[in-house]
Amino acid sequence: MKIAPSKILVVDDQPEIGWLFGKVLGEDGYQVLTAGTGEEALAKIEKEHPDLVFLDVKLPGQDGIALLRSIQKSRPKQLVIMLTGHGEVKTAVEAMKLGAYDYLTKPLPNDRLKIIVRNALETVGLSREVHGLKQEASKRWSWDRFIGGSPQMQNVFELVRKVATHDVTVLLRGESGTGKELVARAVHAESLRQAHPFVPLDCATLPEALVESEIFGYERGAFTGALDRKPGRFERADNGTLFLDEVGNLAPHAQMKLLRVLQEGEVERLGGKEAITVDVRLIAATNMDLEDLMRRGAFREDLFHRLNVFVISLPPLREREGDLELLSKYFLEKFNRDLNRSAAEISDEAMAIMHRYAWPGNIRELQNTLKSAVILAGDSILPQHLPVRLLNGHGGTQTQLETWNASERHGEFLSVQPASRAAGVKTASMKQVAKNAERDLIVETLGNCHWNKAQAARQLGVDYKTLYNKIKAYRITQDPEP
Ligand SMILES: Nc1ncnc2c1ncn2[C@@H]1O[C@H](COP(=O)(O)OP(=O)(O)OP(=O)(O)O)[C@@H](O)[C@H]1O
Ligand SMILES: [Mg+2]
Repeated sequence: MKIAPSKILVVDDQPEIGWLFGKVLGEDGYQVLTAGTGEEALAKIEKEHPDLVFLDVKLPGQDGIALLRSIQKSRPKQLVIMLTGHGEVKTAVEAMKLGAYDYLTKPLPNDRLKIIVRNALETVGLSREVHGLKQEASKRWSWDRFIGGSPQMQNVFELVRKVATHDVTVLLRGESGTGKELVARAVHAESLRQAHPFVPLDCATLPEALVESEIFGYERGAFTGALDRKPGRFERADNGTLFLDEVGNLAPHAQMKLLRVLQEGEVERLGGKEAITVDVRLIAATNMDLEDLMRRGAFREDLFHRLNVFVISLPPLREREGDLELLSKYFLEKFNRDLNRSAAEISDEAMAIMHRYAWPGNIRELQNTLKSAVILAGDSILPQHLPVRLLNGHGGTQTQLETWNASERHGEFLSVQPASRAAGVKTASMKQVAKNAERDLIVETLGNCHWNKAQAARQLGVDYKTLYNKIKAYRITQDPEP
């Protein structure tokens, strides 16, 4: 798709910058306008409606941030890219938070300028097009396997897109299973380093004794067992991206070592003689409260500030409006395909249960849940194909997370049929949980079916008599709900 942008406005008090843009972008057929002051810029924006504005953060009189605010007042959808000098990255990041699409650091490499302009204009073209489509289609945005139609996730995608082409360190925060690694890979895949390696380093599972050899690598004979030389993770990530996963779990000693590499930009293999310069973009992820760790002295403040540059927080699944359906549909199709099954749908009852549940393990938990359900179900995923913890699922997420971790096995699926399955549940409290859940489920299904027991029994996948006995056993009555 070729999008024909017409006008680009360059706001900078140095005329040579405008000239340079005109030259470079003119080659690609863009019309470049210039303005030297904020006033001039506002007037040109008003009159010419440029597709894209480049805005210097330092202007005489009014600074770029203030001008950005004025532009956003008069034309809220104006696409703006900030121009910064060295040492102004913080301001640029602030501008992006205010809604600037991106920023560029001067001096400007021509090739990068063209890529950024093209991406920016394509994105706008794309979002205009999507806007015009039906709601259903516009809900879904994916880089192949990345699902999220909720405003919360659209925002994440936007941040990923904005930050990807810069070498800024990214810190990903979010509960377990929210997709931090997926985002890290997306940032890399969208970056100018995409052709170079993405190297993950899981700090949670890295034994203290291996930290140095993993990070720095070693020469043959550096220590007993070093039979051959091995490059470290930093070296392997050279020109690419190093992903420090679960960085909150890094041992103190390792934190110090890491900090040193980040400060010096070079590594030395164990037993090696010279320092090797490395060019690595860092992405770190954590589900821990780093601020709290710092207060307790378990995480170094200087390292924290090195990592805490551009933060992307992944919202928990329960806060993503509408994504449960999109993700469920996606996983249903995926697992049918992968496992050669034919569960055509998720029943309304099962979906209702999934809606009430808090998903402490987030997307990963949903994924596992649907995988099991697809295996257990026939044509349709019914409540009894869901793990028992879901059936009890309203409240406290911490407890639920514990339950989730403890019960990620088969054999804990609620069966509404006589207690054969329940007998396999190990502890008394699990039995009670299952019972409560079962009772809730029956009450709800009866309510949905206006107390038509035959219909409720069908929905629950049990025979009429079983349901009748359960209603009696649980003393469920047809009280009108308040
Ligand atoms: N938006 C999404 N669309 C599709 N799949 C997703 C999405 N988010 C996460 N997943 C999938 O869910 C699983 C968990 O994601 P990921 O490993 O990225 O999470 P995480 O935040 O790193 O979790 P943890 O803290 O447990 O390491 C992965 O299999 C991932 O592919
Ligand atoms: Mg992870």
